[in-house]
Amino acid sequence: MMHPHSWWQTGVIYQIYPRSFLDGNGDGVGDLPGMKRKLDYVRWLGVDAIWLSPIYPSPMADFGYDISNYTDVHPLFGTMEDLDTLLQQAHQRDLKVILDFVPNHTSDEHPWFQQARSNRTNEKRDWYIWRDPAPDGGPPNNWTSRFGGSAWQFDEHTGQYYLHLFDVKQPDLNWRNQEVRQAMYDVLHFWLDRGVDGFRVDVLWLLLKDEQFRDNPMNPDWKPGDNPSARQIGLYTEDQPGIHRIVQEMRAVVDQYGARVLIGEIYLPLARLLHYYGEQLDEAHLPFNFQLVILPTWGASTVRQVVEAYEAALPQGAWPNWVLSNHDRPRIATRVGPEQARVAQMLLLTLRGTPTCYYGDELGMQDVAVAPELMHDPKGKEHPEHSRDPQRTPMQWESSPNAGFCPPEVRPWLPVANDYQTYNVVAEQHDPRSFLTLVHTLLTLRRTLPALTVGSQQSIDQQNPTCFVYLRQHQDQRCLVALNFSAQDQIVTLPGEGQGRLLLSTRLDREGFIPLSEVHLRGNEGLLLEVEASSLPGEYVRRQHVLHGP
Ligand code: NOJ
Repeated sequence: MMHPHSWWQTGVIYQIYPRSFLDGNGDGVGDLPGMKRKLDYVRWLGVDAIWLSPIYPSPMADFGYDISNYTDVHPLFGTMEDLDTLLQQAHQRDLKVILDFVPNHTSDEHPWFQQARSNRTNEKRDWYIWRDPAPDGGPPNNWTSRFGGSAWQFDEHTGQYYLHLFDVKQPDLNWRNQEVRQAMYDVLHFWLDRGVDGFRVDVLWLLLKDEQFRDNPMNPDWKPGDNPSARQIGLYTEDQPGIHRIVQEMRAVVDQYGARVLIGEIYLPLARLLHYYGEQLDEAHLPFNFQLVILPTWGASTVRQVVEAYEAALPQGAWPNWVLSNHDRPRIATRVGPEQARVAQMLLLTLRGTPTCYYGDELGMQDVAVAPELMHDPKGKEHPEHSRDPQRTPMQWESSPNAGFCPPEVRPWLPVANDYQTYNVVAEQHDPRSFLTLVHTLLTLRRTLPALTVGSQQSIDQQNPTCFVYLRQHQDQRCLVALNFSAQDQIVTLPGEGQGRLLLSTRLDREGFIPLSEVHLRGNEGLLLEVEASSLPGEYVRRQHVLHGP
């Protein structure tokens, strides 16, 4: 019988930041041989796919998001053979491999750009976005880089400006040029032919820019010192007409290969984000849903509101997804605190939809303060408080020096967290109540309970405003999730009768049966309960969500 759900719907994605996972050759930077050594860990953890941030040749101005060759591997990370064996060894373990695809810009050291900047009539000139100076000689318009400053760089040699929405070493490609599109689709074919299982597409919503190059409105709320990416309202640089055609084209390439996945990095308000599924569900399988990443206040009511608004707005047949952290944003344990982070993991791994976990979050890793002189991130150049280095520090494997990330005598590219002797894989695997044990158990339960993967989802009304309770159900299986967002003990009164069987507390210290009329939650505790249909009022049992296949 055909499985009605695809692997990227029932599975869990694990993001690896390759520089920081495991250093296999003793140079202080993570690499593919290191990653291969940890595939068994990843499999043990219980995720189904790894997404690798870029591993391609790059001058590393933006740590791999500035690519100088799309179809090779940076020697720092290993060789093409390493990538092939990683794919093979991952597939042997039933793990999928997703690569990062960075279509908005290349490195300025990419041969395409080198040619484009050589003279105005070069055949690659139009592959990038060039404009004459404004009448006063300044930049052609007011567009700002998301890393700060103008988005335009003057090129002395040819007397024009080129556009870079990110670092000056990341010139934007011109996606209105058909040859650019074809060249980038060829890149997708190259990797799909090699066996990769899909792509996470970098800044998908930024690929097209206004044809008239009109000025963006400035964000009236922005003040110096705020995040430079919020300085303008991207009216003419984001989500432009025509973008959906491009996403459809990418999807058509991916669809030629069967069960592969296209994930889009998109930071947009909900309604516009959801358009990236495509009207015919013919665009991204998973437009990343970053609402829990950008949530200004973490709490039961804000989270409930976000979850319900998302569920209500999802187009029919579209598959949801959730994220808590990534390499661009503070880690969840830093945002909400280490105790509440357990609740956040239970939320991530029990909500309807595909979760993406960020490496190290399963240990309860926090952002690491990096001294300004040790910082690398171009985004932190002017304002170290916006540097993304703190969330990119080495994975903590064990209690030995450098947390086992690289040899003791080697200096890791970013400092290892001070608390690595407490928060590391080996120590936590031996502790039945550790953060890792919690995440591992949640992932194991997800695998065994279809209600958590393919079941419907419904919020449960109850009186306590500091708790969020929801029901996941599939056929006869019903799971209740009760999350306490406060640091104080709380009581939740559920509308059912009878008892729920406790499958898991985020504290990992209790089991047994709990009366639904009085569920006691300790501060920062989340509970996962299995309940009988007879324990629930009919309204909950009847409202089964209709699910659609991909
Ligand atoms: C989004 C990536 O996640 C980020 O790390 C990078 O700096 C920008 N895109 C530019 O590629």
